[in-house]
Amino acid sequence: MKFLQISPFKQLLSHSRFLLTLRSEQGKYHSLILFRLSAAAALDASDRAANRQIYVMESTCPHLGADMSHADIEEYEDTTVAVCPWHRYDFDLRTGKSETGLRACTYSVEVKTDPEDDTEKVYIETPSGGNNWRLVELRPVSEEFADPPPAPSQIPVAMNNSEATEPLIPTTDPPKTLMQWAVLILNTANPTLKVMRTRHAVQLFRTGNLDSIGHKSTSAPRPPDVPPREESFLKNTVNPGKVKGRKSLAVMLHALANVEQWAIDLAWDIMARFGPSHPDLPPAFFSDFTKMALDESKHFSLLTSRLSATSPSTPYGTMPVHAALWESASITAHSLRARLAIIHLVHEARGLDVNPGTIARFRRAGDAESVAAMEVIHADEVTHVTAGHRWFTWLCAHDGGLDPVATFRDEVRRGWRGNVKGPFNIGDRELAGLTPEFYEHLTGEMGEEEMDQKRSAVPDLKGLSLSDPVEPQVSVRYEDKI
Ligand code: FES
Repeated sequence: MKFLQISPFKQLLSHSRFLLTLRSEQGKYHSLILFRLSAAAALDASDRAANRQIYVMESTCPHLGADMSHADIEEYEDTTVAVCPWHRYDFDLRTGKSETGLRACTYSVEVKTDPEDDTEKVYIETPSGGNNWRLVELRPVSEEFADPPPAPSQIPVAMNNSEATEPLIPTTDPPKTLMQWAVLILNTANPTLKVMRTRHAVQLFRTGNLDSIGHKSTSAPRPPDVPPREESFLKNTVNPGKVKGRKSLAVMLHALANVEQWAIDLAWDIMARFGPSHPDLPPAFFSDFTKMALDESKHFSLLTSRLSATSPSTPYGTMPVHAALWESASITAHSLRARLAIIHLVHEARGLDVNPGTIARFRRAGDAESVAAMEVIHADEVTHVTAGHRWFTWLCAHDGGLDPVATFRDEVRRGWRGNVKGPFNIGDRELAGLTPEFYEHLTGEMGEEEMDQKRSAVPDLKGLSLSDPVEPQVSVRYEDKI
Protein backbone atom coordinates (compact mmCIF):
# COMPACT_ATOMS: atom_id res chain seq x y z
CA MET A 1 0.00 0.00 0.00
CA LYS A 2 1.49 3.37 -0.98
CA PHE A 3 0.95 6.55 1.01
CA LEU A 4 1.11 10.20 0.07
CA GLN A 5 1.85 13.01 2.49
CA ILE A 6 -0.95 15.55 2.35
CA SER A 7 -0.44 18.02 5.16
CA PRO A 8 1.04 18.77 8.53
CA PHE A 9 -1.55 17.65 11.04
CA LYS A 10 -1.81 21.09 12.59
CA GLN A 11 -3.01 22.59 9.33
CA LEU A 12 -6.05 20.35 9.50
CA LEU A 13 -7.16 21.98 12.72
CA SER A 14 -8.59 25.00 10.91
CA HIS A 15 -11.62 23.07 9.61
CA SER A 16 -13.24 19.70 10.08
CA ARG A 17 -13.68 18.87 6.38
CA PHE A 18 -11.33 19.24 3.45
CA LEU A 19 -11.63 18.51 -0.23
CA LEU A 20 -8.59 16.90 -1.79
CA THR A 21 -7.81 16.53 -5.46
CA LEU A 22 -5.19 13.98 -6.46
CA ARG A 23 -3.72 13.57 -9.93
CA SER A 24 -1.60 10.69 -11.16
CA GLU A 25 1.32 10.92 -13.52
CA GLN A 26 -1.06 9.53 -16.18
CA GLY A 27 -3.45 12.48 -15.70
CA LYS A 28 -6.11 10.55 -13.77
CA TYR A 29 -8.02 12.48 -11.10
CA HIS A 30 -9.60 11.51 -7.81
CA SER A 31 -11.59 13.90 -5.61
CA LEU A 32 -11.60 12.91 -1.97
CA ILE A 33 -13.19 14.24 1.17
CA LEU A 34 -11.36 14.23 4.49
CA PHE A 35 -13.35 14.34 7.73
CA ARG A 36 -11.57 15.26 10.94
CA LEU A 37 -13.90 14.32 13.76
CA SER A 38 -11.72 14.87 16.78
CA ALA A 39 -12.69 17.79 18.93
CA ALA A 40 -10.01 20.44 19.28
CA ALA A 41 -9.78 19.70 23.01
CA ALA A 42 -8.74 16.10 22.35
CA LEU A 43 -5.94 16.99 20.01
CA ASP A 44 -3.20 17.14 22.57
CA ALA A 45 -3.54 13.44 23.25
CA SER A 46 -0.61 11.44 22.02
CA ASP A 47 -2.58 9.06 19.81
CA ARG A 48 -2.26 9.00 16.08
CA ALA A 49 -4.73 8.61 13.21
CA ALA A 50 -7.31 6.61 15.15
CA ASN A 51 -7.58 9.16 17.93
CA ARG A 52 -7.20 12.00 15.51
CA GLN A 53 -10.28 10.50 13.90
CA ILE A 54 -9.31 11.36 10.38
CA TYR A 55 -11.22 9.58 7.64
CA VAL A 56 -10.87 9.88 3.90
CA MET A 57 -13.26 8.69 1.23
CA GLU A 58 -14.11 9.44 -2.40
CA SER A 59 -16.03 12.68 -2.50
CA THR A 60 -18.73 11.32 -4.79
CA CYS A 61 -21.41 9.01 -3.47
CA PRO A 62 -21.33 5.52 -5.03
CA HIS A 63 -25.13 5.58 -5.46
CA LEU A 64 -25.71 8.39 -7.96
CA GLY A 65 -22.64 10.53 -7.52
CA ALA A 66 -23.70 13.22 -5.04
CA ASP A 67 -20.99 15.40 -3.56
CA MET A 68 -20.31 14.04 -0.06
CA SER A 69 -18.72 17.23 1.25
CA HIS A 70 -21.96 18.17 2.99
CA ALA A 71 -22.76 14.67 4.23
CA ASP A 72 -24.09 14.42 7.77
CA ILE A 73 -21.87 12.50 10.16
CA GLU A 74 -23.83 10.26 12.49
CA GLU A 75 -23.07 7.64 15.11
CA TYR A 76 -24.81 4.40 14.19
CA GLU A 77 -24.54 1.45 16.58
CA ASP A 78 -20.79 1.09 17.03
CA THR A 79 -19.81 2.82 13.80
CA THR A 80 -19.65 6.34 12.49
CA VAL A 81 -21.27 6.92 9.14
CA ALA A 82 -21.37 9.63 6.52
CA VAL A 83 -24.95 10.13 5.33
CA CYS A 84 -25.28 11.18 1.71
CA PRO A 85 -27.34 14.37 1.37
CA TRP A 86 -29.21 13.18 -1.73
CA HIS A 87 -30.93 9.92 -0.73
CA ARG A 88 -29.67 9.49 2.83
CA TYR A 89 -27.69 6.28 2.22
CA ASP A 90 -25.09 5.96 4.93
CA PHE A 91 -21.52 4.73 4.57
CA ASP A 92 -19.20 3.53 7.31
CA LEU A 93 -16.32 5.97 7.45
CA ARG A 94 -13.81 3.18 8.08
CA THR A 95 -14.93 0.52 5.65
CA GLY A 96 -17.18 2.40 3.24
CA LYS A 97 -19.88 -0.27 3.74
CA SER A 98 -23.53 0.64 3.57
CA GLU A 99 -26.57 -1.39 4.55
CA THR A 100 -27.81 -0.91 1.00
CA GLY A 101 -25.03 -3.16 -0.27
CA LEU A 102 -23.21 -0.28 -1.94
CA ARG A 103 -19.71 0.47 -0.78
CA ALA A 104 -17.93 3.81 -0.79
CA CYS A 105 -14.23 3.85 -1.54
CA THR A 106 -12.33 4.74 1.63
CA TYR A 107 -8.60 5.32 2.09
CA SER A 108 -6.32 4.46 4.99
CA VAL A 109 -4.84 7.36 6.90
CA GLU A 110 -1.62 7.51 8.91
CA VAL A 111 -0.31 10.25 11.16
CA LYS A 112 3.44 10.06 11.69
CA THR A 113 6.04 12.29 13.20
CA ASP A 114 8.49 13.53 10.62
CA PRO A 115 11.96 13.12 12.17
CA GLU A 116 13.26 16.00 10.05
CA ASP A 117 11.22 18.67 11.76
CA ASP A 118 9.58 16.70 14.55
CA THR A 119 6.10 17.61 13.44
CA GLU A 120 3.16 15.36 12.77
CA LYS A 121 2.27 14.79 9.14
CA VAL A 122 -0.83 13.20 7.70
CA TYR A 123 -0.50 10.55 4.98
CA ILE A 124 -3.22 8.90 2.94
CA GLU A 125 -3.27 5.74 0.92
CA THR A 126 -3.05 6.48 -2.81
CA PRO A 127 -5.72 5.28 -5.25
CA SER A 128 -5.10 2.17 -7.28
CA GLY A 129 -4.61 2.36 -11.04
CA GLY A 130 -2.01 5.08 -11.42
CA ASN A 131 1.39 6.09 -10.16
CA ASN A 132 3.15 9.07 -8.75
CA TRP A 133 0.00 10.54 -7.30
CA ARG A 134 0.31 14.11 -6.16
CA LEU A 135 -1.92 16.39 -4.19
CA VAL A 136 -3.05 19.25 -6.40
CA GLU A 137 -5.66 20.73 -4.10
CA LEU A 138 -6.40 20.69 -0.40
CA ARG A 139 -9.07 23.12 0.60
CA PRO A 140 -11.43 23.37 3.49
CA VAL A 141 -15.11 22.87 2.96
CA SER A 142 -15.92 26.33 4.13
CA GLU A 143 -18.06 26.47 7.24
CA GLU A 144 -19.64 29.58 5.78
CA PHE A 145 -21.28 27.61 2.99
CA ALA A 146 -22.60 25.14 5.48
CA ASP A 147 -24.81 27.90 6.87
CA PRO A 148 -28.47 27.79 6.03
CA PRO A 149 -29.17 29.49 2.72
CA PRO A 150 -30.45 33.07 2.79
CA ALA A 151 -34.13 33.47 3.50
CA PRO A 152 -36.28 33.54 0.38
CA SER A 153 -37.18 37.17 0.73
CA GLN A 154 -36.52 40.32 -1.22
CA ILE A 155 -32.80 40.98 -1.64
CA PRO A 156 -31.70 44.38 -0.43
CA VAL A 157 -29.14 45.80 -2.84
CA ALA A 158 -26.98 48.73 -1.86
CA MET A 159 -24.61 48.86 -4.79
CA ASN A 160 -24.94 51.68 -7.25
CA ASN A 161 -28.14 52.89 -5.61
CA SER A 162 -29.94 50.08 -7.32
CA GLU A 163 -32.67 48.07 -5.68
CA ALA A 164 -33.35 44.53 -6.78
CA THR A 165 -37.04 43.94 -6.97
CA GLU A 166 -37.06 40.25 -7.73
CA PRO A 167 -37.27 37.73 -4.91
CA LEU A 168 -34.43 35.29 -4.38
CA ILE A 169 -36.66 32.41 -5.43
CA PRO A 170 -39.22 33.26 -8.12
CA THR A 171 -42.72 32.97 -6.75
CA THR A 172 -44.07 31.45 -9.94
CA ASP A 173 -42.45 28.35 -11.30
CA PRO A 174 -39.49 28.19 -8.92
CA PRO A 175 -36.55 26.15 -10.21
CA LYS A 176 -36.44 22.53 -9.12
CA THR A 177 -33.38 21.25 -10.92
CA LEU A 178 -29.81 22.46 -11.19
CA MET A 179 -30.32 23.19 -14.90
CA GLN A 180 -33.32 25.39 -14.11
CA TRP A 181 -31.34 27.29 -11.48
CA ALA A 182 -28.44 27.71 -13.90
CA VAL A 183 -30.67 29.31 -16.53
CA LEU A 184 -32.44 31.49 -13.96
CA ILE A 185 -29.08 32.76 -12.67
CA LEU A 186 -27.81 33.38 -16.20
CA ASN A 187 -30.94 35.46 -16.83
CA THR A 188 -30.51 37.40 -13.57
CA ALA A 189 -29.34 40.88 -14.55
CA ASN A 190 -28.69 42.27 -11.09
CA PRO A 191 -25.22 41.20 -9.92
CA THR A 192 -26.05 41.00 -6.22
CA LEU A 193 -29.09 38.87 -6.89
CA LYS A 194 -26.93 36.70 -9.17
CA VAL A 195 -24.49 36.16 -6.29
CA MET A 196 -27.27 35.40 -3.80
CA ARG A 197 -29.00 32.99 -6.16
CA THR A 198 -25.71 31.26 -6.88
CA ARG A 199 -25.07 30.74 -3.22
CA HIS A 200 -28.60 29.50 -2.64
CA ALA A 201 -28.64 27.11 -5.62
CA VAL A 202 -25.27 25.58 -4.76
CA GLN A 203 -26.41 25.06 -1.20
CA LEU A 204 -29.58 23.31 -2.42
CA PHE A 205 -27.50 21.14 -4.75
CA ARG A 206 -24.98 20.16 -2.12
CA THR A 207 -27.52 19.36 0.52
CA GLY A 208 -29.74 17.23 -1.69
CA ASN A 209 -32.60 19.72 -1.87
CA LEU A 210 -33.04 19.73 -5.63
CA ASP A 211 -35.13 17.22 -7.58
CA SER A 212 -32.18 16.39 -9.83
CA ILE A 213 -29.41 17.92 -11.90
CA GLY A 214 -31.86 17.83 -14.79
CA HIS A 215 -29.37 17.63 -17.65
CA LYS A 216 -30.82 14.35 -18.91
CA SER A 217 -34.28 15.80 -19.24
CA THR A 218 -35.54 16.58 -22.73
CA SER A 219 -37.18 19.69 -21.32
CA ALA A 220 -34.03 21.25 -19.81
CA PRO A 221 -34.26 25.02 -20.37
CA ARG A 222 -31.92 26.76 -22.80
CA PRO A 223 -29.43 29.32 -21.54
CA PRO A 224 -29.53 32.84 -23.00
CA ASP A 225 -27.08 33.67 -25.81
CA VAL A 226 -25.79 36.55 -23.69
CA PRO A 227 -26.61 37.01 -20.00
CA PRO A 228 -28.39 40.32 -19.48
CA ARG A 229 -26.90 43.16 -17.47
CA GLU A 230 -28.97 45.56 -15.40
CA GLU A 231 -29.11 48.97 -17.01
CA SER A 232 -28.25 50.84 -13.83
CA PHE A 233 -24.90 49.05 -13.73
CA LEU A 234 -23.98 50.25 -17.21
CA LYS A 235 -24.09 53.98 -16.60
CA ASN A 236 -20.37 54.65 -17.03
CA THR A 237 -20.46 57.89 -15.11
CA VAL A 238 -16.79 57.86 -14.18
CA ASN A 239 -13.96 58.18 -16.68
CA PRO A 240 -11.25 55.85 -15.39
CA GLY A 241 -8.61 57.92 -17.17
CA LYS A 242 -9.36 60.79 -14.82
CA VAL A 243 -9.16 58.74 -11.66
CA LYS A 244 -5.80 59.53 -10.08
CA GLY A 245 -3.72 58.53 -7.09
CA ARG A 246 -4.90 55.89 -4.67
CA LYS A 247 -8.29 55.88 -6.35
CA SER A 248 -6.72 54.29 -9.40
CA LEU A 249 -6.81 51.09 -7.36
CA ALA A 250 -10.56 51.43 -7.70
CA VAL A 251 -10.21 51.23 -11.47
CA MET A 252 -8.45 47.89 -11.12
CA LEU A 253 -10.95 46.57 -8.60
CA HIS A 254 -13.84 47.63 -10.81
CA ALA A 255 -12.35 45.95 -13.87
CA LEU A 256 -11.55 42.76 -11.95
CA ALA A 257 -15.07 42.64 -10.47
CA ASN A 258 -16.46 42.85 -14.00
CA VAL A 259 -14.39 39.84 -15.05
CA GLU A 260 -15.69 37.93 -12.03
CA GLN A 261 -19.28 38.76 -12.88
CA TRP A 262 -18.79 37.21 -16.33
CA ALA A 263 -16.98 34.29 -14.72
CA ILE A 264 -20.06 33.50 -12.58
CA ASP A 265 -22.07 33.30 -15.78
CA LEU A 266 -19.44 31.19 -17.52
CA ALA A 267 -19.54 28.59 -14.77
CA TRP A 268 -23.33 28.32 -15.00
CA ASP A 269 -23.31 28.47 -18.79
CA ILE A 270 -20.98 25.48 -19.24
CA MET A 271 -23.42 23.41 -17.16
CA ALA A 272 -26.62 24.70 -18.76
CA ARG A 273 -25.36 24.78 -22.36
CA PHE A 274 -23.46 21.49 -22.48
CA GLY A 275 -25.16 19.39 -19.78
CA PRO A 276 -28.19 18.51 -21.94
CA SER A 277 -26.03 17.70 -24.99
CA HIS A 278 -23.73 15.49 -22.87
CA PRO A 279 -26.10 13.40 -20.75
CA ASP A 280 -23.27 11.09 -19.72
CA LEU A 281 -21.44 13.86 -17.86
CA PRO A 282 -21.16 12.54 -14.30
CA PRO A 283 -22.36 14.47 -11.22
CA ALA A 284 -18.72 15.25 -10.38
CA PHE A 285 -18.66 17.59 -13.39
CA PHE A 286 -21.54 19.57 -11.89
CA SER A 287 -19.91 19.50 -8.46
CA ASP A 288 -16.78 21.06 -9.91
CA PHE A 289 -18.57 23.78 -11.85
CA THR A 290 -21.03 24.67 -9.10
CA LYS A 291 -18.01 25.11 -6.86
CA MET A 292 -16.53 27.34 -9.53
CA ALA A 293 -19.74 29.41 -9.73
CA LEU A 294 -19.68 29.80 -5.97
CA ASP A 295 -16.02 30.81 -5.98
CA GLU A 296 -16.60 33.41 -8.69
CA SER A 297 -19.51 34.81 -6.68
CA LYS A 298 -17.27 35.05 -3.66
CA HIS A 299 -14.62 36.82 -5.77
CA PHE A 300 -17.16 39.30 -7.11
CA SER A 301 -18.32 40.06 -3.56
CA LEU A 302 -14.77 40.42 -2.27
CA LEU A 303 -13.80 42.80 -5.06
CA THR A 304 -16.91 44.94 -4.93
CA SER A 305 -16.59 45.24 -1.20
CA ARG A 306 -12.94 46.30 -1.57
CA LEU A 307 -14.10 48.77 -4.21
CA SER A 308 -16.65 50.30 -1.83
CA ALA A 309 -14.05 50.54 0.92
CA THR A 310 -11.34 52.01 -1.32
CA SER A 311 -13.48 54.42 -3.26
CA PRO A 312 -17.05 54.90 -1.98
CA SER A 313 -17.78 57.42 -4.73
CA THR A 314 -17.19 54.91 -7.53
CA PRO A 315 -19.22 51.81 -6.68
CA TYR A 316 -19.55 48.89 -9.04
CA GLY A 317 -21.37 49.98 -12.16
CA THR A 318 -19.94 53.47 -12.44
CA MET A 319 -17.07 52.67 -14.81
CA PRO A 320 -17.00 51.21 -18.30
CA VAL A 321 -16.53 47.48 -18.57
CA HIS A 322 -15.96 45.00 -21.37
CA ALA A 323 -17.44 41.69 -22.45
CA ALA A 324 -14.29 40.03 -23.78
CA LEU A 325 -14.85 36.83 -21.85
CA TRP A 326 -18.32 36.45 -23.28
CA GLU A 327 -16.99 36.87 -26.80
CA SER A 328 -14.89 33.75 -26.21
CA ALA A 329 -17.93 32.05 -24.70
CA SER A 330 -19.96 32.76 -27.81
CA ILE A 331 -17.17 31.57 -30.10
CA THR A 332 -17.05 28.26 -28.19
CA ALA A 333 -20.81 27.82 -27.74
CA HIS A 334 -20.83 24.91 -30.22
CA SER A 335 -18.40 22.58 -28.42
CA LEU A 336 -17.69 21.57 -24.85
CA ARG A 337 -14.13 20.69 -25.78
CA ALA A 338 -13.56 24.10 -27.33
CA ARG A 339 -15.19 25.80 -24.32
CA LEU A 340 -12.95 24.01 -21.82
CA ALA A 341 -9.86 24.69 -23.92
CA ILE A 342 -10.41 28.38 -24.65
CA ILE A 343 -12.14 29.62 -21.51
CA HIS A 344 -10.65 27.43 -18.81
CA LEU A 345 -7.24 26.53 -20.18
CA VAL A 346 -6.37 29.70 -22.10
CA HIS A 347 -8.24 32.61 -20.47
CA GLU A 348 -8.28 31.28 -16.91
CA ALA A 349 -4.73 29.98 -17.15
CA ARG A 350 -3.71 33.47 -18.24
CA GLY A 351 -5.21 34.68 -14.97
CA LEU A 352 -2.64 32.54 -13.15
CA ASP A 353 0.12 34.35 -15.06
CA VAL A 354 -1.08 37.88 -14.35
CA ASN A 355 -2.45 37.61 -10.81
CA PRO A 356 0.95 37.77 -9.09
CA GLY A 357 1.60 41.12 -10.86
CA THR A 358 -1.79 42.43 -9.76
CA ILE A 359 -1.14 41.34 -6.18
CA ALA A 360 2.25 43.06 -6.26
CA ARG A 361 0.62 46.25 -7.45
CA PHE A 362 -1.85 46.28 -4.58
CA ARG A 363 0.98 45.49 -2.21
CA ARG A 364 3.07 48.41 -3.48
CA ALA A 365 0.07 50.66 -2.95
CA GLY A 366 -0.15 49.50 0.68
CA ASP A 367 -3.60 47.95 0.21
CA ALA A 368 -3.20 44.84 2.38
CA GLU A 369 -6.90 43.93 2.29
CA SER A 370 -6.95 43.82 -1.50
CA VAL A 371 -3.75 41.76 -1.43
CA ALA A 372 -5.50 39.28 0.86
CA ALA A 373 -8.57 39.19 -1.40
CA MET A 374 -6.47 38.64 -4.51
CA GLU A 375 -4.52 35.85 -2.84
CA VAL A 376 -7.78 34.03 -2.10
CA ILE A 377 -8.87 34.58 -5.70
CA HIS A 378 -5.59 33.34 -7.11
CA ALA A 379 -5.61 30.14 -5.02
CA ASP A 380 -9.19 29.43 -6.16
CA GLU A 381 -8.29 30.06 -9.78
CA VAL A 382 -5.58 27.42 -9.72
CA THR A 383 -8.35 24.96 -8.84
CA HIS A 384 -10.52 26.26 -11.69
CA VAL A 385 -7.78 25.57 -14.21
CA THR A 386 -7.39 22.15 -12.56
CA ALA A 387 -11.11 21.54 -13.18
CA GLY A 388 -10.68 22.66 -16.79
CA HIS A 389 -7.79 20.24 -17.26
CA ARG A 390 -9.62 17.43 -15.50
CA TRP A 391 -12.73 17.65 -17.66
CA PHE A 392 -10.82 18.33 -20.87
CA THR A 393 -8.80 15.13 -20.35
CA TRP A 394 -11.99 13.27 -19.33
CA LEU A 395 -13.65 14.38 -22.57
CA CYS A 396 -10.62 13.35 -24.63
CA ALA A 397 -10.75 9.87 -23.09
CA HIS A 398 -14.51 9.74 -23.55
CA ASP A 399 -14.27 10.79 -27.21
CA GLY A 400 -12.22 7.75 -28.16
CA GLY A 401 -8.95 8.20 -26.32
CA LEU A 402 -7.76 11.44 -27.91
CA ASP A 403 -4.39 12.77 -26.86
CA PRO A 404 -5.13 15.75 -24.53
CA VAL A 405 -2.10 17.81 -25.53
CA ALA A 406 -2.55 17.43 -29.30
CA THR A 407 -6.33 17.96 -29.00
CA PHE A 408 -5.89 21.07 -26.87
CA ARG A 409 -3.44 22.55 -29.36
CA ASP A 410 -5.89 21.84 -32.22
CA GLU A 411 -8.73 23.51 -30.33
CA VAL A 412 -6.61 26.60 -29.68
CA ARG A 413 -5.49 26.82 -33.30
CA ARG A 414 -9.14 26.72 -34.36
CA GLY A 415 -10.68 28.90 -31.64
CA TRP A 416 -8.08 31.52 -30.77
CA ARG A 417 -6.47 34.38 -32.56
CA GLY A 418 -2.76 35.18 -32.18
CA ASN A 419 -0.13 33.83 -29.82
CA VAL A 420 -0.95 32.25 -26.50
CA LYS A 421 0.98 34.88 -24.60
CA GLY A 422 3.53 34.51 -21.82
CA PRO A 423 5.37 35.01 -19.66
CA PHE A 424 3.85 31.97 -18.06
CA ASN A 425 3.41 31.11 -14.41
CA ILE A 426 4.86 27.68 -15.05
CA GLY A 427 4.60 26.50 -11.43
CA ASP A 428 0.91 27.21 -10.94
CA ARG A 429 0.03 26.05 -14.46
CA GLU A 430 1.81 22.77 -13.77
CA LEU A 431 0.00 22.42 -10.45
CA ALA A 432 -3.24 22.70 -12.39
CA GLY A 433 -2.12 20.01 -14.87
CA LEU A 434 -1.01 22.34 -17.66
CA THR A 435 2.52 21.28 -18.49
CA PRO A 436 4.42 23.45 -20.99
CA GLU A 437 3.80 21.12 -23.94
CA PHE A 438 0.16 22.21 -23.77
CA TYR A 439 0.79 25.90 -24.34
CA GLU A 440 4.35 26.71 -25.43
CA HIS A 441 4.84 28.07 -28.96
CA LEU A 442 1.14 27.96 -29.66
CA THR A 443 -0.67 30.33 -32.00
CA GLY A 444 -4.37 30.57 -32.68
CA GLU A 445 -5.14 30.67 -36.38
CA MET A 446 -8.63 32.06 -36.34
CA GLY A 447 -8.92 34.91 -38.82
CA GLU A 448 -10.45 38.25 -37.95
CA GLU A 449 -13.27 37.72 -40.40
CA GLU A 450 -14.09 34.30 -38.99
CA MET A 451 -13.98 35.71 -35.47
CA ASP A 452 -16.38 38.51 -36.42
CA GLN A 453 -18.71 36.04 -38.08
CA LYS A 454 -18.85 33.88 -34.97
CA ARG A 455 -19.38 36.92 -32.79
CA SER A 456 -22.15 38.26 -34.95
CA ALA A 457 -23.89 34.89 -34.76
CA VAL A 458 -24.70 35.94 -31.21
CA PRO A 459 -27.25 38.64 -31.85
CA ASP A 460 -27.13 40.63 -28.64
CA LEU A 461 -23.44 40.77 -27.95
CA LYS A 462 -22.74 43.74 -30.14
CA GLY A 463 -25.77 45.49 -28.74
CA LEU A 464 -24.60 45.12 -25.19
CA SER A 465 -23.62 48.72 -24.54
CA LEU A 466 -20.82 48.11 -22.16
CA SER A 467 -18.18 50.60 -23.14
CA ASP A 468 -19.97 53.82 -24.14
CA PRO A 469 -20.01 56.68 -23.68
CA VAL A 470 -16.60 56.77 -22.01
CA GLU A 471 -13.84 54.62 -23.41
CA PRO A 472 -12.02 52.76 -20.67
CA GLN A 473 -8.43 53.74 -20.18
CA VAL A 474 -7.69 50.59 -18.25
CA SER A 475 -9.04 47.31 -19.40
CA VAL A 476 -8.21 44.32 -17.28
CA ARG A 477 -8.58 41.08 -19.14
CA TYR A 478 -7.06 37.74 -18.50
CA GLU A 479 -4.81 38.38 -21.47
CA ASP A 480 -3.66 41.80 -20.30
CA LYS A 481 -0.82 42.39 -17.91
CA ILE A 482 -1.52 45.10 -15.40
S1 FES B 1 -27.54 8.21 -1.76
FE1 FES B 1 -25.93 9.35 -2.53
S2 FES B 1 -26.54 9.86 -4.53
FE2 FES B 1 -28.13 8.65 -3.74
